[in-house]
Amino acid sequence: MQNPLHNKSDIAVIGLAVMGQNLILNMNDHGFQVSAYNRTAAKTEQFLNGPAKGTKIIGAYSLEELIGQLKQPRKVMLMVQAGWAVDELIAQLVPLLDKGDIIIDGGNAHYPDTERRTAELAEQGILFIGTGISGGEEGARHGPSIMPGGNPEAWSAVKPILQAVAAKTASGEVCCHWVGKNGAGHFVKMVHNGIEYGDMQLICEAYQFMKDGLDMSHAEMQAVFAEWNKTELNSYLVQITADILGTNDVDGTPLVEKILDRAGQKGTGKWTGINALDLGTPLMLITEAVFARCISALKTQRVQAATVFGHKIEPVAGNREEWLAALRQALLASKIISYAQGFMLMRQASEHYGWDLDYGNTALLWREGCIIRSAFLGNIRDAYAANPDLVFLGSDAYFKDLLQQALPGWRKVAAAAMQHGLPMPCTVSALSFLDSYTCGRLPANLLQAQRDYFGAHTYERIDQPEGEFFHTNWTGTGGDTASTAYNV
Ligand code: ATR
Repeated sequence: MQNPLHNKSDIAVIGLAVMGQNLILNMNDHGFQVSAYNRTAAKTEQFLNGPAKGTKIIGAYSLEELIGQLKQPRKVMLMVQAGWAVDELIAQLVPLLDKGDIIIDGGNAHYPDTERRTAELAEQGILFIGTGISGGEEGARHGPSIMPGGNPEAWSAVKPILQAVAAKTASGEVCCHWVGKNGAGHFVKMVHNGIEYGDMQLICEAYQFMKDGLDMSHAEMQAVFAEWNKTELNSYLVQITADILGTNDVDGTPLVEKILDRAGQKGTGKWTGINALDLGTPLMLITEAVFARCISALKTQRVQAATVFGHKIEPVAGNREEWLAALRQALLASKIISYAQGFMLMRQASEHYGWDLDYGNTALLWREGCIIRSAFLGNIRDAYAANPDLVFLGSDAYFKDLLQQALPGWRKVAAAAMQHGLPMPCTVSALSFLDSYTCGRLPANLLQAQRDYFGAHTYERIDQPEGEFFHTNWTGTGGDTASTAYNV
């Protein structure tokens, strides 16, 4: 169908995979006229004759045709595979666009790519937005969480469209705000995905504690997660966990037990962990969650090692209700630590890259529409609204109270996991983090002594001003020359 010249489209979307199609339908629902293009023309045809039939959506079969259908400044949104496909499309689009036109990448780009693309396109007068979009198929169709960053000059032109299609909170707040310049939007989406890794792994650890430690049936576990979903743990992931535990296979037994325990990953958790290592942020929980997926992938080795070591998870004795209360506390407290670490990473990155992130708004972006949506994010939003300089989420009065209330049960669960052979890497790591973070004197004094002993790396003294470095000739034979000080 050809677009009549007098009725140009508000936006073009390239890429008619699941996310692209649903986002277009969502834009159409909100009154925008969308031009749709896919590299493989048959998909465009199928879309126009299928889900898009009877809508205002217009198809295009070449990039030239697509660009010709747009109002100025032209807005072209890419919903294609992240990576080289985006660069290839940008290269094809630039000669067809005018200065001031806007390219929006709504895929899962790695944020350094978005930093680079924003700068390269700015040199050519094209405005670039890299936006995280979360919520999967359902979110894209009915309201995803949208995290736009890039060239701030582009924001006012795309804001009405992106905010219209984004998720809204119960009180009508929009889960789409300008995140920051250059790669900030895709960075925040990356951290969102990392946090999602952590949330999922923590829930899985609680499930294994119930199943192998407390010998609970799937119906019982389903009921517990459904109950927890009415508490501070209220979230999409806890809700779907209850649903999953209540789903049986065709033979009437729990489907989840038929699923191979080998986790996949697409890399966003890994990127988050690598970024934390680069910036020196102790993002222990998310990184453990990535490694938990890695160790799960070693299925064959694990099965062999289980035989060699005769590993058996011993049942946890005691009152089940008390254990479940403690387990809920352990899950909640560990989740607080995970988000605290995630927000620490965002602060570190924001300072490093000059993004000026708004942490309260970030929590609001994730409040609805995305996979980690939860009531909890409303509390995080409140914490940062009250104190934008909050360095550690656990210091906020609400979260500090929750952590302090949780501590006895959390320690009990972590200790039981250790004693009974239940792997709970994230739950235990979160507790170790809090114990380290709240420990005024860690054994790093000895570590510094070791470094100075073998490598003359020098140390600072508690009885001298910080920044003055000392070296000791520990063996009496090593000499007094100190190595140059450097920091990683
Ligand atoms: P999904 O995983 O949901 O399939 P995806 O892999 O992120 O989604 O994106 C696939 C989309 O990217 C498709 O629309 C694909 O076009 P085809 O249907 O022709 O395969 C599009 N895509 C991938 N590489 C592309 C490229 N180099 N140029 C244009 N579109 C491309």
